Amino acid sequence: MARHDACRGGVDLQRRPHGYGPVAPGNFALPTPNPYRPDFTNPDGALDWQRQLDFGFELIDAQSTGSLAACIVEPILSSGGVIDPPAGYFAALKRKCEERGMLLIVDEAQTGLCRTGSWYAFERDGIVPDILTLSKTLGAGLPLAAVITTAEIEQAAHDRGYLFFTTHVSDPLVAAVGVTVLDVLQRDGLDTRAAQAGSALRAGLLELQERHECVGDVRGRGLMQGIELVTDRATKQGADRLGSAVTARCFELGLHMNVVQLPGMGGIFRIAPPLTASDEEIRTGLDILDTAIAECVSAAV
Ligand SMILES: Cc1ncc(COP(=O)(O)O)c(C=O)c1O
Repeated sequence: MARHDACRGGVDLQRRPHGYGPVAPGNFALPTPNPYRPDFTNPDGALDWQRQLDFGFELIDAQSTGSLAACIVEPILSSGGVIDPPAGYFAALKRKCEERGMLLIVDEAQTGLCRTGSWYAFERDGIVPDILTLSKTLGAGLPLAAVITTAEIEQAAHDRGYLFFTTHVSDPLVAAVGVTVLDVLQRDGLDTRAAQAGSALRAGLLELQERHECVGDVRGRGLMQGIELVTDRATKQGADRLGSAVTARCFELGLHMNVVQLPGMGGIFRIAPPLTASDEEIRTGLDILDTAIAECVSAAV
């Protein structure tokens, strides 16, 4: 693309990696609209995401040369802590992009293809991204990803000589698997199933929150849920050590939790069971989590 600058939404600056060289010039980050830990607040203490977004773009406008190309976001920050931006955020973000002639790229590698209870998580916000990226579910375990865009953008990329190669680009074998995955998702109504199973999962997690003081927050959509363990609900101090202990105990009891254990996020559990998980399997997972939390909390006292 002829334009150079880009911004990325959803980078949690407090958890940025250390020890690397400088990031590519022309990249900017927007603050994360995190309802559990609001930085810009309304008088009632709730996140004022509109003011936060305005401020983020003020900073980007001040730093950019005005040739902003695109903004890349996940509709729910998944590995970033299962942070679900408030409804309305992405419609406002799309407007900000349009005002600047930027494309909105929505990365649904984790949220796409029925996981959140709809085919795509962006649907909640009534927007259509300029570019959509998919992976994970699409290949059902095989390495397959897709970039989906409009005919106009595809044509512009083609006219400008854009090329993208990898060893397996346009591989017919995995493409056939991807087509079958799409057929099965549609045939079995797995969007509806994820919404139903997701509400059972969420209800179970909310029950755990009622019973266990250390469960500070429950968040997410459909079959992408997250809980955050804290040492104190008032200060919201993350309970990393307890999180690691609960993860280890769950594993002993037969539940593989917290597959991605990032530094500083030991107390945040990303819970994304298979779309085909049965009600009984979800109940079993919740029971194991309940037991593990209870045991680890009493062991720590
Ligand atoms: C949100 C998100 N986007 C993109 C990727 C990269 O996906 P892939 O390695 O399939 O290209 C990942 C992988 O973990 C992801 O979680």
